[in-house]
Amino acid sequence: MARTALVTGGSRGIGAAISKALKAEGYNVAATYAGNDEAAAKFTEETGIATYKWNVADYDESKAGIEKVEAEVGPIDIVVANAGITRDAPFHKMTPEQWHQVIDTNLTGVFNTVHPVWPGMRERKFGRIIVISSINGQKGQFAQVNYAATKAGDLGIVKSLAQEGARAGITANAICPGYIATEMVMAVPEKVRDSIVAQIPAGRLGEPEEIARCVAFLASDDSQFINGSTISANGAQFFV
Ligand code: CAA
Repeated sequence: MARTALVTGGSRGIGAAISKALKAEGYNVAATYAGNDEAAAKFTEETGIATYKWNVADYDESKAGIEKVEAEVGPIDIVVANAGITRDAPFHKMTPEQWHQVIDTNLTGVFNTVHPVWPGMRERKFGRIIVISSINGQKGQFAQVNYAATKAGDLGIVKSLAQEGARAGITANAICPGYIATEMVMAVPEKVRDSIVAQIPAGRLGEPEEIARCVAFLASDDSQFINGSTISANGAQFFV
């Protein structure tokens, strides 16, 4: 029977490319979204991938949503924790609200997504946790104290889960995309974006599909011994 994958933030940007790549690999895929009903409906219509609306920052909503997906699509074998937001501001201007919004969505959102599926994965002795971190969790970024903290936190989450899940057949890994051509990066002021591209030895932004292919590999049976790792996909912009 085909395995089931859950992709949070899976109807737009990098998440949409991941959902499509996993469907192409033969998985049953459920994609979550936070608010854009129109984009989600269009995505389902075009791809046939079921979409579910919940706020990953809310534990009870996440748990209820995951129960619904498991009842309608199947027990979740693969979780791609991809949902994320930015609230960029230089630190002296960053508000507590901007800090908490990003922490609640990007970091607590990973806990809220993985925690409800973890017991089932342990029982079934198989699981794939793939967390979409960022180059900015590795190197930090001007105006992203909040975002960089969450993306660095992702790396601690997967290294810890890897140790807890290894004997139960569960792997947990992170991918750190560099700057990828998505709405999130296109929202950066053009002058700033040009200066960022100038720092990428590849001379271009990445494509969402280039991240999706990393996810497809980590989701597969072939990746069983890769556990607690971080894959950087950034066009040689930064090395750990
Ligand atoms: N390094 C050094 N200095 C910088 C800088 C940088 N990267 N970016 C801006 N500055 C400087 C500006 O030149 C300006 O200096 P002056 O005051 O001397 O002119 C100062 O910092 C801040 O300027 P403002 O007061 O005008 O700042 P602002 O409150 O309007 O904020 C900003 C502007 C939010 C920082 C905007 O420049 C911005 O969005 N920058 C991009 C941040 C970024 O890279 N975000 C990544 C988004 S993509 C993503 O997150 C996906 C991923 O995982 C990779």
